[in-house]
Amino acid sequence: MTSVTLPSISPPSGTKLPILMPPHPSLRAKTRKVAAGELERVRALLPDMFATMYAAPGIGLAAPQIGVGLRFAVIDLMPNEAPAPLVLVNPEVIRVSEEWAVREEGCLSLPGQYADVTRPARVAVRYQDADGATREVEAEGLLAACLQHEIDHLDGVLFVDHLSALKRNMLMRKLAKDIKQGVVG
Ligand code: NI
Repeated sequence: MTSVTLPSISPPSGTKLPILMPPHPSLRAKTRKVAAGELERVRALLPDMFATMYAAPGIGLAAPQIGVGLRFAVIDLMPNEAPAPLVLVNPEVIRVSEEWAVREEGCLSLPGQYADVTRPARVAVRYQDADGATREVEAEGLLAACLQHEIDHLDGVLFVDHLSALKRNMLMRKLAKDIKQGVVG
């Protein structure tokens, strides 16, 4: 997920990786659950994930966006412009509010494209941290939207899938045009 208001901060130790864009099949594939024996591999990818996200700059990045078909994502909303990294391994939405909220979303895989997306206003998410410990987070506002957006990525879903076909096609055509003209990508 992207946010236009965030400052670009210097990346940590990791290497900035290319972020995949449509029609790359990795963005449309459902990821596989991270097994306990794969946590080491996930941990090894985290510095590059965060470096890539911070450099973009973005506030969330899911493994399929860098071509990794495993169920994990990173988020950092940078409250008070200070890093607050969150690692979500095998995240699942376990509760949603009946109330809905509309928020403008973007995505690092759909650079320069933004649209209002309607999602449950509050969610509870169960996940494992980078050490494999099970955790739960309840969120509203930006974090709630970001959690749902990143978990969608792990199921091969992009934010444009929540829009009408008309709006989605318009946005995807604009992205293709922007890439062709070298505006983004
Ligand atoms: Ni995204």
